[in-house]
Amino acid sequence: MKHRTVFICQGCGTRSPKWLGRCPGCGEWNTLIEEVDEERSPAAESAFAPAEPLRYSDIKETESQRIELDNQEFNKVLGGGAVLGSLVLIGGEPGIGKSTLLLQASRDFAARDRRVLYVSGEESLAQIKLRGDRLGVGDGALYLLAETNLERIVAQAEKVRPQVLVLDSIQSVYSSKLSSSPGTISQVREVANQIFRFAKTNQVPAFLIGHITKEGSLAGPKSLEHIVDVVLLFEGERDHSYRILRALKNRFGPVSEMAIFEMGGAGLQAIPNPSAFFLKERPTDEPGSVVVSTIKGSRPLLAEIQALVSSTLFVGSPRRMTIGLDHFRTSMLLAVVEKKLGFGFGGEDIYLNVAGGVTIDEPAADLAVVLAVVSSLKNRPIPSRTAVFGEVGLSGEVRSVGQPLARLKEAASLGFERVVVPQGNLVQLEKGETPSLEVLAVRDVRQAFKLIF
Ligand SMILES: Nc1ncnc2c1ncn2[C@@H]1O[C@H](COP(=O)(O)OP(=O)(O)OP(=O)(O)O)[C@@H](O)[C@H]1O
Ligand SMILES: [Mg+2]
Ligand SMILES: [Zn+2]
Repeated sequence: MKHRTVFICQGCGTRSPKWLGRCPGCGEWNTLIEEVDEERSPAAESAFAPAEPLRYSDIKETESQRIELDNQEFNKVLGGGAVLGSLVLIGGEPGIGKSTLLLQASRDFAARDRRVLYVSGEESLAQIKLRGDRLGVGDGALYLLAETNLERIVAQAEKVRPQVLVLDSIQSVYSSKLSSSPGTISQVREVANQIFRFAKTNQVPAFLIGHITKEGSLAGPKSLEHIVDVVLLFEGERDHSYRILRALKNRFGPVSEMAIFEMGGAGLQAIPNPSAFFLKERPTDEPGSVVVSTIKGSRPLLAEIQALVSSTLFVGSPRRMTIGLDHFRTSMLLAVVEKKLGFGFGGEDIYLNVAGGVTIDEPAADLAVVLAVVSSLKNRPIPSRTAVFGEVGLSGEVRSVGQPLARLKEAASLGFERVVVPQGNLVQLEKGETPSLEVLAVRDVRQAFKLIF
């Protein structure tokens, strides 16, 4: 069957039968992308039966139509299991452990008598088996297929009728409907579309592995993220063994969940106590180090915020570097410290880092950032066994944050004795069952400063 393709400008939608460097419609360069000409292809039309509107109350409940993974952490990031008929994209840098994560999940599915088809366009069957042996893949209906042609993959999938489909990776597979090479925007999108159709028609969850570039963007178009139901990111540091799995988009669950794993010889192992893990190497009584009780997803996490303030060599334009924190928010907090606490940073470089490569994106870390900076500047450590949380406003006021009790409990469970909290959170805390530790409530940064130093 011959498929027609057409080149479409991603900017203005101009169509052209052949590739052009410059769009005749809008004059932009390199915006024409090859696509299967769905409009003229009768095959595309017959793929789906024409839909008819259904009365709301006649629609069957779908909430329970998930299959659970044995890996509880992975499960949670998905929002409580893999939804039948959903397409999940898992992105990560080369070598981070994407194949390991999904082969482990496949192993667990198969062990529970679920038929799994694991398709690899990157490795031979022998290579996958080598990894599988290390991960303890046993007997079970796990089928491996080494193939790069999408149409052949779909044909095999239709024969095997798996209950879970894994495609490793989306960039290595190509559709023969298009002349573009694998990994190009057109191909990646076509692969996603066909697998999406397979997943929906057969009501199976499908996992796509995607490589992401060093800059952190998924190779392939932004529109790939629109096609799939769930986008998960698998990240970690080169020289650390831990890996973080988190949701970037989830049509069936929250995106704030994250799971932490440790990579070892036998594969990925969930880390049951992330707080302890991230605080393991924390120096005690070092200026500039503050522990914040933050919320990651549904779970509290203690993380260490580190600040280093040192006189600059770049007079007039001192450095401001942040890792793991929002840069603009941090600049705002520095301005608050200057204005409300009367410190001047004009001649200082300031580096801020969240230890262990964690990213914190909630304002509840503000107070910790402020205290870390001041601690480093004054070269005075924060008393050990002290954790803090609280949002800081432009007038230097410390504002209440969500889930104060969960934050306190996490601190208590890790042996912290003192927690600095926003005054506004006290009422909620008194209503709950507060763990036995000293709670110091503050109204503004000045009060926090006096209390700590
Ligand atoms: N024997 C081993 N012991 C410990 N860790 C191992 C062992 N073998 C492999 N690894 C880890 O597994 C990682 C590779 O995992 P995996 O192949 O699943 O990654 P990937 O993201 O699929 O990579 P790629 O981008 O190449 O497809 C290695 O970087 C290494 O950290
Ligand atoms: Mg791989
Ligand atoms: Zn155009």
